[in-house]
Amino acid sequence: MKIIESGTGAEAGIRAANLIAELVRATPTAVLGLATGSSPLPLYAALAEQNLDLGRVRGFSLDEYLGLGAADAESYARVIRREVIERLGLDPDLVRTPDGLAPDPVQEAADFERSIRAAGGIDLQILGIGSNGHLAFNEPPSAFDSRTRVVELEPSTREDNARFFDSLADVPTHAITQGLGTIGEARQLLLIAHGEAKAQAVARAVEGPVTEDFPASLIQRHPNATLVLDAAAASRLQCARV
Ligand code: GLP
Repeated sequence: MKIIESGTGAEAGIRAANLIAELVRATPTAVLGLATGSSPLPLYAALAEQNLDLGRVRGFSLDEYLGLGAADAESYARVIRREVIERLGLDPDLVRTPDGLAPDPVQEAADFERSIRAAGGIDLQILGIGSNGHLAFNEPPSAFDSRTRVVELEPSTREDNARFFDSLADVPTHAITQGLGTIGEARQLLLIAHGEAKAQAVARAVEGPVTEDFPASLIQRHPNATLVLDAAAASRLQCARV
């Protein structure tokens, strides 16, 4: 595991964007796993500055709230469209987010998993981390071999994410998420975290026991994982960083 520490979130965004730019220059049809949340926003902003042609890149979002669709302001489909597809110039036909309005969400999850395989798997998966150690919406505990599926959100996750909604009651109770097995199969993981509020979760993910009770500890088992952290998010780590 490689840990890159940068002073500010914006600097960390530039370091993370450089990793993606390197991949896309080598492989213009690279398959990216796309994360929402506030953590990857500096990365997307920095990547937009690089004026790279991302028109042939394929993308798979990590997760989506059940009951929200692309027309809903807080759906991840909408966030990915705004922050990634439009901002970075990806082809909307090459980006797939689980459909939170699918009539059969279990089937939708299975179809989503199949489409990742059909694309040849994910080259680089962008990740944030929940304060409870979740990756995507894999709440603790989640099996390390879990696949894309319907999950129930923890109360703490709904509270964390309520800031994006009018009220806590508006935060969906369920989601479709890539599984930890799905995420772990990506050829490269790029986890981004900013701020003191993530310091404890980052330390447990990197230096705590590898356990399904703390899903983000999965990164310790991955052969090619990079963490890009600002100083606050790295503040509780003991290990060396570059
Ligand atoms: C949501 C997403 C996660 C994300 C997490 C952290 O719960 N499902 O994929 O990592 O939020 O969000 P933020 O980056 O805003 O702290």
